[in-house]
Amino acid sequence: MQRSETESLKDRMTEAVLQKFEEIFGDAQGARVFFAPGRVNLIGEHTDYNGGHVFPCALTIGTYGVARKRDDRLLRFYSMNFEQAGVIRSSLDELAASEEAGWTNYPKGVIWAFEEKGMKLPCGLDILLNGNIPNGSGLSSSASVEILTGAMLRELFGFQVTNQDLALIGQYSENNFNKVNCGIMDQFAIAMGKKDHAIFLDTADLSYEYAPIALPGAKIVISCSNKKRGLGDSKYNQRRSECEAALAELQKAVDIKSLGDLDLETFEKYQTAVRDDIRRRRARHAVSENQRTIRAVEALKRGDIAEFGKLMNASHISLRDDYEVTGAELDTLVEEAWKIDGVIGSRMTGAGFGGCTVSIVKNEAIDGFIRRVGEAYLKKIGYAADFYAVEIGDGPVTLM
Ligand code: GLA
Repeated sequence: MQRSETESLKDRMTEAVLQKFEEIFGDAQGARVFFAPGRVNLIGEHTDYNGGHVFPCALTIGTYGVARKRDDRLLRFYSMNFEQAGVIRSSLDELAASEEAGWTNYPKGVIWAFEEKGMKLPCGLDILLNGNIPNGSGLSSSASVEILTGAMLRELFGFQVTNQDLALIGQYSENNFNKVNCGIMDQFAIAMGKKDHAIFLDTADLSYEYAPIALPGAKIVISCSNKKRGLGDSKYNQRRSECEAALAELQKAVDIKSLGDLDLETFEKYQTAVRDDIRRRRARHAVSENQRTIRAVEALKRGDIAEFGKLMNASHISLRDDYEVTGAELDTLVEEAWKIDGVIGSRMTGAGFGGCTVSIVKNEAIDGFIRRVGEAYLKKIGYAADFYAVEIGDGPVTLM
């Protein structure tokens, strides 16, 4: 039987990480190989910490990793994406975040979170990673590393945790170890990913349903702005506090637990309870985006891709004008995309401020899309964007 392109890429990546592991750590005796995907959010942005809905999917690109138990308490990490950093050492007895630890704060955070939850590691590990998600692109390379680490610990030490637990542990580590106040979307999308499906998740109670993504004659295209961002240094935490403050003001007027409890009509009725115009716009985005996400999934179920695309466009406008998390780079990518025939919908995806956009583009328009959006972006922004047609993939797997 012929192997699919995705499967043979997995084989090649498995071979490459094992070979590198041998080169760096001497031999690969007892080493296991794992994969966890990246994710893209189709709609439902900045709703996951507001008790709203999200609609992300896992990708076939992600992070490959090799892990092996040691007979002492040392932790040794190596990333093929940050080769200049060399081997970064730590120990189970010094699990604290630090600047020098760089990218290893993510796997260390997950090890710390397992221990916090009573799952103590009996020994240290050698871990090597190689990701094919562009770093800092907003496709969740860090959540991918978190879920990958969780999957490694589960397999190597036999901890009894479900994929949903891995998502919660990943978020816990990011919030409490790396001090980024992210919601649950990224970790959930990655841990619970399902090929050719997006996940319609209600972040108020973690109930979810898989919706098949059939895009006849079209593909999901990611445009990467190459403007790097990290959640830690962005205005992410600030947006979160603005929403919390707006919620507290609204709660004086109406009985709600989160902004996700409001429909637009009720929000409009009570919005003057929010005393400040900026906070009012932030709250309006959280409310309207949640409603758009619900409507988008309904449209998709009816097979109305055109309506789904229009809601994606409206999502971008709300993120640009009310939530103010887009910026010239993402706006240029999206506004140029909207000009092209064959683009069903286009919006920024992820936290914003940089990173990527997601577009649904008819197959015959993809080459022209990449050329025209690429040229316009280079001219206006001064450096190039990158484009990827992506496939929706499964959650974490043990490859060997
Ligand atoms: C980042 C966070 C998510 C979510 C998005 C915005 O990706 O990690 O929890 O809040 O931003 O939708």
